Order: sequence, then C-alpha cells, then structure tokens
Amino acid sequence: MLERLREIEAETLKQLESIEDRGALHRLESATIGKKGEITGILRSIGQLPPEERPAVGQLANEVKRRLEAAFAEREEYLRQQELARSLESGAIDVTLPGRPVPTGRLHPITRTLREIYAIWAEMGFQIYRSREVEEDEVNFTLLNMPPHHPARDMWDTFYTTTEGVLLRTHTSPGQIHVMREYAPEPIRVILPGMVYRYEQITARSEIQFNQVEGLAVGHSIHMSDLKGTMAAFARRLYGADRRVRFRCSHFPFTEPSMEVDVECILCDGEGCNVCKHTGWLEIAGAGMVHPVVLKNGGYDPAVYSGFAFGMGVERITMLRHGIEDIRYFWGNDLRFLEQF
Ligand code: DAH
Repeated sequence: MLERLREIEAETLKQLESIEDRGALHRLESATIGKKGEITGILRSIGQLPPEERPAVGQLANEVKRRLEAAFAEREEYLRQQELARSLESGAIDVTLPGRPVPTGRLHPITRTLREIYAIWAEMGFQIYRSREVEEDEVNFTLLNMPPHHPARDMWDTFYTTTEGVLLRTHTSPGQIHVMREYAPEPIRVILPGMVYRYEQITARSEIQFNQVEGLAVGHSIHMSDLKGTMAAFARRLYGADRRVRFRCSHFPFTEPSMEVDVECILCDGEGCNVCKHTGWLEIAGAGMVHPVVLKNGGYDPAVYSGFAFGMGVERITMLRHGIEDIRYFWGNDLRFLEQF
C-alpha cells in the first residue's frame, strides 16, 4: 500500500509537469485527490487494513494528499498566468494607431459674417438689440410710416399668421420702433440683426428667409454726413481700406432722405464683371435719415432729435465674399456646402 502511494505521487507529479490545460488538470485532480480519487479511496479503506499497518499508511496518504494539493494549486496558478499572458498578447493595444476622428462642429457661414459685422459696429459704439421675428403689422408697417393700404407695403411680400394683425417680420426695421420706445429720450446707437421672412418665389437670388442687420442712431445733431461717414467706415473695415463707397438717391417710407450704399465691386475691383453686372459697383445697404413720423412714433420729438438708419442683407454680403452663386445653399442644410467653411 505504501508502495502504491509513492507510485501515485510520483506519477501524478510527472503528469502534472506536462499538463497544459486546466480541463486536463481538473480531471487528473479528481482521479487522485478528488472525492472519487484513488488516494481518497485509500484513506477511506484504512479501516480494513491490519491495525499495525494503519498508522504508516494513514500518515503517508495524508502527506501525499497535501503535497499533491499543493502541486495542483501551483500548476493551476501557472496555467492561469500563461492564459493571461496569451490574452494580453493577442488583444494588445497598438498605441501607434491613429485615433478615430471626432467630427467637430463649426460655425455657419452666416454666423461668421454676422460676428464680423458685430465686431465692426461694436468698435464704433453700436450695441446689439434683439427684436422679435413674429411681429405686429402695426410695427412692421404702420409705425414705419406705411399705414394700411399704403402702396409701399407692396415692396415686401408678407407671410401673415392666422392671428389678425400678426405677421413674420419682412425686415428688421420694426426693431427701430421697439428700441426707441424702450430708450426714449436717451441717445441710441444700436444694430438689430436677425432673420426676416418674405413670401417670395425661391430662386438662386431670393429666399423666403434671410438675415438683415439694421442700424439705428438717434440723438442731437445727427446729420447726413454722420450717416455717410459711418457707412464708409464700415464698408472699409469689411471690404478693405481702399474700397471706394458711393451713395445713390433712393426711397424708403421710413427715411427721408433715403439712399442706397454701394461699394466698388470686390470681385473685379470696379472693372466690371458679371457679379456687378458690369457697373463696377455692388449695392450693400439701404439707408437714410430717420423719417420724422418714425421718430415721433418711437417717442422722440423730431424738432429736437434726429437720426440715421440703415439695413443690409447678410447672405448677400457672404455670397459676394465667398463667390457663392445660390442663396438657397444657406438654409438648405446640405453638409456638403456647410463643411466648406
Ligand atoms: N428695411 C429695408 C428693407 O428691408 C432696408 C432699409 C432701408 C433699412 C433703409 C433701413 C433704411 O433702416 O434706412 O428693404
């Protein structure tokens, strides 16, 4: 019996050395020291041995069992380490691989133009005033010197809402009334940027929505020369210091006198091209001295106060600067267009 125990120990230790997977290890373990293992069997049958043999067999069986337990544990730990090393190697992280690109957002080209415009006017002391897009007919037209049925209203094709007297503003000019009523009789220097809406046929040159930047200065002794100097300063800042500017007579119901502001064509430098229709000039804004009726509607006495106003199209400016030929790109939400900026 003692002989057999030594044999089992030696054999098992030898087999253990070459075992490479944990399944085989567990099988060998149960065949020897497991519940139905041979050594366990020997321990159980000690009672059947002659009494004088029992102590020696019992002692050795227990010793062998302990040594084998230790050997199995050691081999199992070794196999676990091997497995870990293998999985680390096969699932290794290649730190030299380039990362996956995270798509970055960007500013809409109109937002970029707007911010440049804000910066220029800010330097000249103009604050931003936000006015509403859903407007009353009264403010969009009547208080701007266009009473109901006034023919000048036809200059703007209008989106009306189902609520009587409420519409989508056709221009940023009604904001003038809101500012004046809020600040009268304080002097005013503001720009009023934002979206305007027109019920128009959509073409490459006209959209149903676009941005304008309105400007308004009200105070004592504001003259036409202030308007011209200010517009020229703005145009030179936006288009370049040696750009020439010119003013043409025009008509708007809310200014008197009214004018149109042109800059020398930025594409052909005034030589004449398709964009400026061979005139050498590009129209960039409507402007004028605030009409006395409008001043009065805003709460300013036209005998004491005067002011100038202007309005410019932001999409148009952006088209000219980037050579964009179709205004519909701006609000068409096509990434192929937007990602170019
Ligand atoms: N509101 C005009 C338009 O949408 C633009 C305009 C012209 C604004 C002259 C002004 C101005 O403030 O003085 O066509």
